[in-house]
Amino acid sequence: MLSDKVLDNLPHEIRRRIEPYVEAVQLMTATKNAKVLKSMAPSGVRGLILQRGKQGVPTKMPSNHEVYFDWTYPNDQPEMRELYTRAKEQQWNGDDLPWHIDVDPENPEKPIIPRHFMDYDALRGKGIKLTDLEERRLNSSVASWMLSQFLHGEQGALFAAAQVTEAVQFFDGKLYGATQVVDEGRHVEVFHRYLDSKMNKLYQINDNLFVIIDALIQDSRWDVKFLGMQIMVEGLALGAFGTLYQMTGEPMLKQLLKMVIQDEARHVHYGVIALRDHFRQELSDRERREREDWAFEVALLMRNRFLSFEVYEEWFEHKLTRKEWAQFVTDSPGFAIFRQVMFKRLVPNLREIGLLSDRIRPHYERAGLMQYADGASATQLSGDQMIAELDAA
Ligand SMILES: [Fe+2]
Ligand SMILES: [Fe+2]
Repeated sequence: MLSDKVLDNLPHEIRRRIEPYVEAVQLMTATKNAKVLKSMAPSGVRGLILQRGKQGVPTKMPSNHEVYFDWTYPNDQPEMRELYTRAKEQQWNGDDLPWHIDVDPENPEKPIIPRHFMDYDALRGKGIKLTDLEERRLNSSVASWMLSQFLHGEQGALFAAAQVTEAVQFFDGKLYGATQVVDEGRHVEVFHRYLDSKMNKLYQINDNLFVIIDALIQDSRWDVKFLGMQIMVEGLALGAFGTLYQMTGEPMLKQLLKMVIQDEARHVHYGVIALRDHFRQELSDRERREREDWAFEVALLMRNRFLSFEVYEEWFEHKLTRKEWAQFVTDSPGFAIFRQVMFKRLVPNLREIGLLSDRIRPHYERAGLMQYADGASATQLSGDQMIAELDAA
């Protein structure tokens, strides 16, 4: 494999072309667990090497799960039935959001993300001097990039929720799942409408997000689909939505996020109750360990790999190397907060479903994520409480 030293000595143009492939190989070899690597590798090839999400054509993914029917219609899970009732009562219409509010993504008075989200001094240290207007434009690009990834994640959540509704064995879970499909459809609607009518910019799906969605949609095991989408992707998204909700100075987006967060709180709650008993009672130790390792690797992938390369390609491809950009993003104050806070919601849920055993805890400790281990899980926190907590902070 090409070392960083060899890369450093290549002409910029050649380096620029081969660097994404080197990164793909580095990512695969960084995945320590052989089983996880084996299960993710085909998705890795489709996402990172073939870049299937960026070809400008629809992507077709075969699904391999079993559809579970029950002709006796049991009331088999009271907590899920309660969530179903709450979900019906809390439905809302995306048209009712304050779309009349004029949004200028470059307006410094009402910034989508804070002025100092990125460390522009560090960029100047690399010889790149942006004007005030360019800095605001770059901030706007980064905000569009984040919202675009939320949108792509929501499309993944929409189809995963439909699959999980088919595959889950609890009948009350199927009824609840039907409401989640509606919720996710609405989230696709409002994020897309916001990007289209307010930001006027949509970025392609990040390769790493594509890899995770591709792996989940095609996995035949319902509980891995659940774990991946309802706990990992939705849990991290909930943390990210909450952070943006707190950071943004744009009132329309704040209202949109507030509504979405309340739905997502139910989704993660459902994921936790569906998996809690299954992991503790139904799986062998070996199977549980496998899921524990998978969750840890995916958590790291999601933390370390969302580096806005799509923004880099648009702005700095001829001025910085990908490695320099990755460092710049990693060190940026705004992204640093996101990377940490995203895990605030996830780690307590992993504990709740039994995937934070003494065996895996040192790994989370080394990754700096154990500080969240004693936090409230989704079963202990409603959407309203979550918003109240965000408003109070
Ligand atoms: Fe959603
Ligand atoms: Fe969701």
